[in-house]
Amino acid sequence: MTTYADIYKASLADPEAFWMKAAAAIDWERRPSKALFAENAPLYEWFSDGRVNGCWNAVDRHVEAGHGDRLAIIYDSPVTHTKREITYRELQTRVAALAGALRAKGVGKGDRVIVYMPMVPEALEAMLACARIGAIHSVVFGGFAAHELAVRIDDATPKAIIAGSCGIEPGRIVHYKPLLDEAIELAEHAPDFCVIFQREQETAALTPGRDLDWYGFQHGTEPADCVPVEGNHPAYILYTSGTTGQPKGVLRPTGGHLVALDWTMSAIYDMAPGEVFWAASDVGWVVGHSYICYAPLIHGCTTVVYEGKPVGTPDAGAFWRVIEDHRVKVLFTAPTAFRAIKRDDPAGAEIGKYDLSSLKGLYLAGERADPDTIRWAETHLNVPVIDHWWQTETGYAIAANPMGIEPLPVKIGSPSVAMPGYDVQILDEGGHPVPPGTLGAIAVKLPLPPGTLPSLWNAEDRFRKSYLDQFPGYYETGDAGYVDEDGYLYIMARTDDVINVAGHRLSTGGMEEVLAGHPDIAECAVVGVTDELKGQLPVGFVCLNNGADRSEDDLVPELVTLVRQQIGPVAAFKHAVLVDRLPKTRSGKILRATMVKIADGAEYKIPATIDDPAILDEIRTALQRIGYGGD
Ligand code: COA
Ligand code: AMP
Repeated sequence: MTTYADIYKASLADPEAFWMKAAAAIDWERRPSKALFAENAPLYEWFSDGRVNGCWNAVDRHVEAGHGDRLAIIYDSPVTHTKREITYRELQTRVAALAGALRAKGVGKGDRVIVYMPMVPEALEAMLACARIGAIHSVVFGGFAAHELAVRIDDATPKAIIAGSCGIEPGRIVHYKPLLDEAIELAEHAPDFCVIFQREQETAALTPGRDLDWYGFQHGTEPADCVPVEGNHPAYILYTSGTTGQPKGVLRPTGGHLVALDWTMSAIYDMAPGEVFWAASDVGWVVGHSYICYAPLIHGCTTVVYEGKPVGTPDAGAFWRVIEDHRVKVLFTAPTAFRAIKRDDPAGAEIGKYDLSSLKGLYLAGERADPDTIRWAETHLNVPVIDHWWQTETGYAIAANPMGIEPLPVKIGSPSVAMPGYDVQILDEGGHPVPPGTLGAIAVKLPLPPGTLPSLWNAEDRFRKSYLDQFPGYYETGDAGYVDEDGYLYIMARTDDVINVAGHRLSTGGMEEVLAGHPDIAECAVVGVTDELKGQLPVGFVCLNNGADRSEDDLVPELVTLVRQQIGPVAAFKHAVLVDRLPKTRSGKILRATMVKIADGAEYKIPATIDDPAILDEIRTALQRIGYGGD
């Protein structure tokens, strides 16, 4: 049985057999008695009664098997002009030492640890050290500001926070430590202690009695062994944007995560142990969790930790230089990165300067891959360009081209087909499956496969409401799309207020909450408009309070600063307009989709339920002031 179709069918017909077989690739301290635990349906768990350790599977077992000298991590940082190689044996020593020091300070199984780090190997070491002792890590992306960090501190209630002293963005130092101090000040929950990884680019002042130096606190402590945990023990919490400003704490169960990620490395990415895998993303996102840290290491590959950008560090040849230097076999990134490279080097002149013979595939995810970008990459790189679709919630691809099983014909515009374990259906509003070619909500028939979220951290009700209630018996993905006659999926849009900016998932609702907090704002809306480089960009529409005498020119910079301070630079909130009113239906619902169409200069129908159609002209005029809205 070697075809995708056979394997896919078998995975749905007998999930128990399929996943127990996949589980054999993982080292268990106690093998699970079965794969699926459906006692609490529609809440499902996998491998719950097994005992396993994530760090053992990602690090120690490779050393045990005689591969201690193999490279585990290659750190390549054009922003600091540094390159460093770490073998599996060195990684084991470093992680065991860090884990031992955390344990000596009282961190143990089930305790939460927030990790707020730039793209340095120590970020992976912090994650693995938590996994080693059964602590639950929650990595917060460095582009989030103090308020967002504080929200996560209060939700995860960590015993410890591990942070870098600074991050480095082209042209500026990101002062992590002051952001951390401010976040702790803002939060109600206080961690017992913080561990600060001091970087030479900026040494932070430590708060006596609370902050410990990364190396100093490891001095004199015993290295920790791996602590086996139950298969359903959370490996981590990763916060992601939902409809409101309160992020969702996606839970990742240890057993399923190990089994599924290992399986994807061969089935989807066609990777073998010892080969070099590079996910050019950030450890703060799910791509970074799964494919910078865990999957390549679990599979015994070498992972590249790249602290740089696709362009400007120093030029549009940066990615090709890394591929040549480290003999990268597979590159995984967001389409935005390629749009940035294509914009700077449309003819692909930089590509010819490097030896890319090691590269066998480019994988894109995180946002819609536009056909122009895919074709450009295919033409210039001359390797398969594989779009695949997934979410923080799932942790790995729902739809992809299974290159390691059977490369399927690529259809540009589609992330190909459902992966084994995912029974993907397109549903109408009433929850009935629709025929091929018909647009609908994309849902996955329960249970989801192993490694996907079993629930949200401390928010089971929200989990049910957000994902399970709309279509009983299904997981609602929040994406809309269709499937064609050959079973290829097409992802068209989100069905909620989530937007995707440069592959970063953001909540327009969260930005609206920030704008609404400004004392002069009566009402507001934020929508995602089309952007050539970043896919989407947020644009704000604000109405003033009665009596507030403010001009657009002086108000908008204040709003931009407010969003940057509260959410962070990653929100890329740079544009807003002042309007008298917002377009609404007669029942008061803001017509965001129509506003997006106007901003994009696309055709639109005047909604039959609109309160006053004249407002749409005002919206267009306002948008034209900032360069949107067509001619
Ligand atoms: N820490 C602090 N700030 C960060 C940050 C981090 N880790 N990452 C990004 N930022 C800041 C940027 O400096 C920028 O700030 P600015 O407004 O002062 O310029 C802001 O957040 C917006 O960042 P971004 O949207 O990434 O835009 P950019 O102009 O800096 O870079 C690209 C554009 C295309 C080069 C960049 O988005 C990129 O490399 N994208 C790849 C996509 C990716 O990795 N996606 C992850 C999911 S797979
Ligand atoms: P995140 O949780 O940040 O990974 O974002 C997940 C969302 O990004 C999905 O729900 C989609 O809306 C979008 N997305 C991810 N990958 C793709 C893809 N290949 N094509 C289209 N949209 C995608």
